[in-house]
Amino acid sequence: MENMERIKAHYGFTSGDVKNLMSLRPVMERYREEFVVEFYNFVKNFEEAEKFLKDEATVKRHQDALKVWFMNMFSGEYGNGYFTELEKVGFAHVKISLPAHYVNAAFHFVKTYTRRILHKEIQKHEEIAFLERSVEKILDINLDVFTSSYIEEEKKFFLSPKVESWLIQMSDRFSHGLNLILVLGLVLLGVMVIGLFGYDFMHIFQSGDFEKGLLSTLGSLLMLWVVIELMDTEVKHLRGGKLTVKIFINVALVAIIRKILIASLKHEEVEAQLSLVAALAVLGVVYWLIARVEK
Ligand code: HEM
Repeated sequence: MENMERIKAHYGFTSGDVKNLMSLRPVMERYREEFVVEFYNFVKNFEEAEKFLKDEATVKRHQDALKVWFMNMFSGEYGNGYFTELEKVGFAHVKISLPAHYVNAAFHFVKTYTRRILHKEIQKHEEIAFLERSVEKILDINLDVFTSSYIEEEKKFFLSPKVESWLIQMSDRFSHGLNLILVLGLVLLGVMVIGLFGYDFMHIFQSGDFEKGLLSTLGSLLMLWVVIELMDTEVKHLRGGKLTVKIFINVALVAIIRKILIASLKHEEVEAQLSLVAALAVLGVVYWLIARVEK
């Protein structure tokens, strides 16, 4: 366990600290029970504490585990076994998706609490400062190992970090490129619909059939409106906005309205017209429901 020796070296954890912590064991033993009570008084302020400490059995298991953990800090044994145990505890928290912030805050509490004990139990100021340094070191080492568990969890990869990040970057770029092509397609479509609108408009006067000409022009105007809406949504999406489902219902609604207009011109069968009206009604209800939810 080269890792463990490295951590201890980084925190300047020496045999002097081992001695200090061991000397504190009898003092801390007296606070074992109170520590858990105070720890729980502190933790219960966390908004979601109950979600994790969900029943009496879990609380009991946690409290017993906490007492053992607390006392192990003053056991004088900081070898492989100690670190393996800490890693296990770290992963136990990761497994239940306990926010890392809760663990950090709880450590802050333990630091304050142990400081309080030292000030209460030890008279000499220099001795307090000396012992306090060792307690802080072991607490920081504990938090380091706990935090590593969270980082290890985040570091899980299927292939390799490099390949995965490259793949993600590439697909992100590709999807951005596709979105740009989509905008270009919509611009072209817009130009074509303007052409259609012009054609329909001219047709009003050329064909002499005023009603047909007007309805066709109205149909092409509706199409133009949909293209504008689609373009607007796409541009907003490219700028990081949310894509709304409503726009797709909009497109379907306009397509059906246009079909109804044409069907009325062609004097199609009543059944065909009725089915279009029914589809329009259904889409109308869906549109209304989505609009309500989005609000
Ligand atoms: C100084 C901070 C903490 C320490 C030292 C600590 C210690 C422990 C230990 C020793 C275990 C047993 C791990 C195992 O099964 O091997 C554990 C598990 C657990 N901890 Fe913590 N804990 C801390 C903070 C918290 C906080 C803030 C919460 C919740 C708000 C929490 C909730 C739990 C839960 C739910 C389990 C699993 C209990 C079970 O089902 O057996 N812990 N913790």
